[in-house]
Amino acid sequence: MAAGKGTRMKSRLPKVLHLLAGRALLAHVVDTAAQLSARQVVVISGHGAAEVESALAPLSGAGAAFDLRFVRQEPQLGTGHAVQQAVPVLADDGVVVVLSGDVPLIRAETLRELIATCGGDKLALLTIDFADPTGYGRIVRQGDAVQAIVEQKDASAEQRAITEVYSGIMALPARQLKRWLARLDKNNAQGEYYLTDIVKSAVADGMPVLGHRISDPLQVAGINSPLQLAELERAWQLRTARELMEQGVRLADPARLDVRGILRCAQDVSIDVNCVFEGEVTLGEGVKVGANCVIANATIGAAAVIHPFTHIEGGKPGSKDFIEVGAGALVGPFARLRPGARLGAEVHIGNFVEVKNSTLAKGAKANHLAYLGDATVGERVNFGAGSITANYDGAFKHRTVIEADAHIGSNCVLVAPVTIGAGGTVGGGSTITKDTPAGALSVARGKQVSIANWKRPSKPR
Ligand code: UD1
Ligand code: CA
Repeated sequence: MAAGKGTRMKSRLPKVLHLLAGRALLAHVVDTAAQLSARQVVVISGHGAAEVESALAPLSGAGAAFDLRFVRQEPQLGTGHAVQQAVPVLADDGVVVVLSGDVPLIRAETLRELIATCGGDKLALLTIDFADPTGYGRIVRQGDAVQAIVEQKDASAEQRAITEVYSGIMALPARQLKRWLARLDKNNAQGEYYLTDIVKSAVADGMPVLGHRISDPLQVAGINSPLQLAELERAWQLRTARELMEQGVRLADPARLDVRGILRCAQDVSIDVNCVFEGEVTLGEGVKVGANCVIANATIGAAAVIHPFTHIEGGKPGSKDFIEVGAGALVGPFARLRPGARLGAEVHIGNFVEVKNSTLAKGAKANHLAYLGDATVGERVNFGAGSITANYDGAFKHRTVIEADAHIGSNCVLVAPVTIGAGGTVGGGSTITKDTPAGALSVARGKQVSIANWKRPSKPR
């Protein structure tokens, strides 16, 4: 169910498209459903339907692991009405699991337990005890058997005292779901078709209704406001931080880490405060990440050090834009590695150095204020302070090749396409437009002139 407006988010963006840990709330839920090897996943959209559908489109189509279908609920007349819209696309056999697009952290494991509780012929409700159950549907039991779910607004004072609540997630046989949906009415405090009313039909038809009670509130936390979104984000990040620490990762402060994707760490990795990891990042053994780094889609080799305030922004894993940093490399502080930066072992990239779509072989160094774009840099090259590759002629990008052991002085411009021969030296301040021979000193700048006893202009006294 993802049709609700999410009024309290006070946003143009449909609620289910807000991000948690870098992914849309609804994408979390669809991913989890996919892990159940569901025959199909049906998304019921309504508010902002077109936007919701196009945001999820990348998860469907050829090559998708499951069949993703969209149905629309317009207008939105309640959760029962929402599920009614899915009836035409649901097979009669099998089990339906109803999930909420705004309850993002439910785990596949828990849903497998719920499906086992359903067993193909029972109604299984996922429930939890809340010290403050305000706003939730209450689970009314007689002995162990569930009799009804009563919504907050319809509940008596006695029912409101019940602390076991319905999470919004249930599993049941499709055939009965369809039958009971047809019986719903809106004779209730909100004038809505409540999905939760099917419990009464199940009881009337003699089907067992079982509550599967869990204790982890994060899994059933729903998001209605920016505050709840931020709180769930922090709770999730703290959980991720703890898992990393259990694997031995040293976090300076588990409360100051953000992983918006997948972070894999080998042994003895340490991460200082306020680092953000996006996409897929792998940190090799003994890697140290300084404070305030943002690292996306990159593999960092063993014992490399990423100094504070470094921005590493790789593209998709497996693409030419993914970033590799070799073992023992030193990067930053204040360095910027852009898509396609590939640094070999022991490469040094210092402060205010930008590297884009360039390969630097083992031991190459660019320590200060430099730009390497579309360059192939050989082993042990030293790229001087303030030097750049001029890779763009206004229409096309060109490559610069700097062969092994070349030494580029300070403040040079290497105008691509150009090759600097192995072991050659480029004098500081040179603008190099032609290939340079191996082993030579190449200088391309105005010759130094000194005029003896030069008198500066002065004002008449
Ligand atoms: C619902 C349950 C309540 C439960 C709570 C858990 C009902 C009647 N009540 O209440 O027992 O404790 O969830 O969070 O089901 N939606 C639609 N179309 C609609 C209305 C809602 O798609 O017409 C979607 C929303 O986008 C959301 C989900 O259904 O993803 C739940 O809707 P919401 O309004 O939050 O339900 P609650 O009133 O919280
Ligand atoms: Ca509601």
